[in-house]
Amino acid sequence: MKLAVQDSKNAPRKSDLLVVFAFEGEPPQLPPRVRLDGAAVKGFKGELREARVVDGEGPAPRMLLIGLGKKNELDSERLRRGSALAARRADSEGAASAVLWCGAALERAAGGAQAAGRALAEGALMGSYRFQRYKTKPKPEKLRALTLCGSGREFKVGTERGTVLAEANLFARDLQNTPSNLMRPRELAAAARKLAVGRGRLSCRVFSKQQIHKLGMGALLGVAAGSNEPPVLIHLTYRPRGKPKASIAFVGKGLTFDSGGISIKPSAKMWDMKYDMSGGAAVLGVFHALRRLDVPFEVHGIVPASENLPDGSATKPGDLVRAMDGTTIEVLNTDAEGRLILCDALAYCLAKVKPDTIVDLATLTGAVVVAVGHEYSGLFATTATLREGLCKAGEAVGEKLWPLPLEEFHKEWMKGEVADLKNINSPDQGAGSTAGAAFLWHFVGQTEWAHVDIAGAAWGGMNREWVGGPQGSGVGARLLAQYLMDRAQAAGAGRMP
Ligand code: BES
Ligand code: MN
Ligand code: ZN
Repeated sequence: MKLAVQDSKNAPRKSDLLVVFAFEGEPPQLPPRVRLDGAAVKGFKGELREARVVDGEGPAPRMLLIGLGKKNELDSERLRRGSALAARRADSEGAASAVLWCGAALERAAGGAQAAGRALAEGALMGSYRFQRYKTKPKPEKLRALTLCGSGREFKVGTERGTVLAEANLFARDLQNTPSNLMRPRELAAAARKLAVGRGRLSCRVFSKQQIHKLGMGALLGVAAGSNEPPVLIHLTYRPRGKPKASIAFVGKGLTFDSGGISIKPSAKMWDMKYDMSGGAAVLGVFHALRRLDVPFEVHGIVPASENLPDGSATKPGDLVRAMDGTTIEVLNTDAEGRLILCDALAYCLAKVKPDTIVDLATLTGAVVVAVGHEYSGLFATTATLREGLCKAGEAVGEKLWPLPLEEFHKEWMKGEVADLKNINSPDQGAGSTAGAAFLWHFVGQTEWAHVDIAGAAWGGMNREWVGGPQGSGVGARLLAQYLMDRAQAAGAGRMP
C-alpha cells in the first residue's frame, strides 16, 4: 500500500472508497459538498470500532464510516487504531484506492493536525502489514493507494514522522516473524550490518564467538553452548551531528530460539519462541528510524544473540558461568537464559560504552504476561525521570508500560549458594518478573537504567488493530524512538524529517 497526502482545503480526490470518521452520538465528519443520506447513517452510533460501508456519491462510489467512540476520550492510540481498522477494511472490501478524510474537528480533538497526521499514517501502514515472504502464492493486497487528507503542512509533517516510525515497526516485525531457522544470530547480525551500510552516522560492529570468548562473556557463551549456531554480539552506534548531549544505550534480547535448553519447555506453543529475539528486533528497529531522525545523542544498540538448545555440550542446571565483569553465576534453570545473555551485554555496556542511560528490552518472563497481559509491558527503572520518560513515550505511541516493583531486597534474592549470583529466585518468593529485573540490576552499577519486559506485548493479543493478528507486533521500536525524540525536545534540540 502506498501512502499519499492531500491538503483538505481541496476537495478529496476521486477513489474507490472515501473513509470518514464519527464520534459517538455525532454525525460522521464529511468533506465539504459530500453528503450522506439519512438511511445510510441510520443506526450508526459512532461507537468505538463501529464500521459500515455505504453507497457514496461525488469523490467515491462507496464510503466507509468508522466510529471513534466518545469525543472526549479520543487519544492518538484510538485514532491510530481507527486508521488501522479503516485500511484493513478498505482492503477487505476490495477497494484499490481510498481517501481518508480528516476534518478540522477531528484534528482538534486529536491534539492538532500534526498529531492526527502521524497517528493516521502509523495506523494505516502498521494495520495493513502482512508477512507473506514465504508464501509461494502471496495474497495480493487489494488496497494499493491510500490518501490521507488533512490540513496543510502540519498534517503532512505528521504523516512523514508517522511513516518513519511505522516503517521501523514493520522492519522489526519482519525480523520477528521470520522462522528461527532463517533468523539465526548470524541473520540478525546481517540485518544490523545492512542498516548501517552507507549511512555515515550509523556504524555496526559484530563480535564473533571467538571475540565474545576473548571479551570473557561466559554467560552468553553458556547459553549458546548447546547450539551449533555460534552466538554474536551486535553493536550499532548512531553519532549525532554536533557534540552529543548524552550517550544512551539500548540493549535487546536476541534469543533467536528458546527451547529452554536442558530445562526444556513443554512442546505446546514452543514455536512461539522464535519471537524470543523481539527485544533485539526492537533495538534494530530504532536504528531503522534513526537513519531518518535527528537526535542530539550518541545512541548505542547492543544485541546479544544466541539460540538456547539442549545437546551434549549444553549448560546443565547447577552449572557455573562467569560473566564479563567477573561475576560468577549458578545456572539453576537453563530456561532463564535471557538474563544471562543480557548480563554480559550490560557488562559490556559499562566497560566499553559507559553511557548515561541504559534501557534494555526483553521477552524475559512468562510471569509478565500473567501480570499485565498483551497490551502492556512491565517496566522497572532506577530513576523516576527515566520511568516517567518511558511511560510518557509509551502512552504517545500506544505501547503502554506499567511500572512493577524493584527494590534492594529483591537484589538479595539473586545471591547464589556456590557462586555470586543464581539465575532464578526461589519459587515461594513469587514475583518472577521482578526477579529477572533484580538479576540484571547487579550488572548496571550506578548507571541510570530501565528494563522493559515485553514478553506479553511482543506478539499476539487481539485488540490492537495495528497488529491485527497473532504475529509479531514490533513493540519497542516506536517506543524507544519516541523516547529519544521527547528527550531531544527536552534538551532543546532534535529534528524530524
Ligand atoms: N523467553 C522466555 C519468556 C517467555 C515465556 C516469553 C513465555 C514469552 C512467553 C524466557 O526465557 C523464560 O523462559 N523465562 C522463564 C523464567 C523462569 C525459568 C524463571 C519463564 O518465564 O518461565
Ligand atoms: Mn527461556
Ligand atoms: Zn527466553
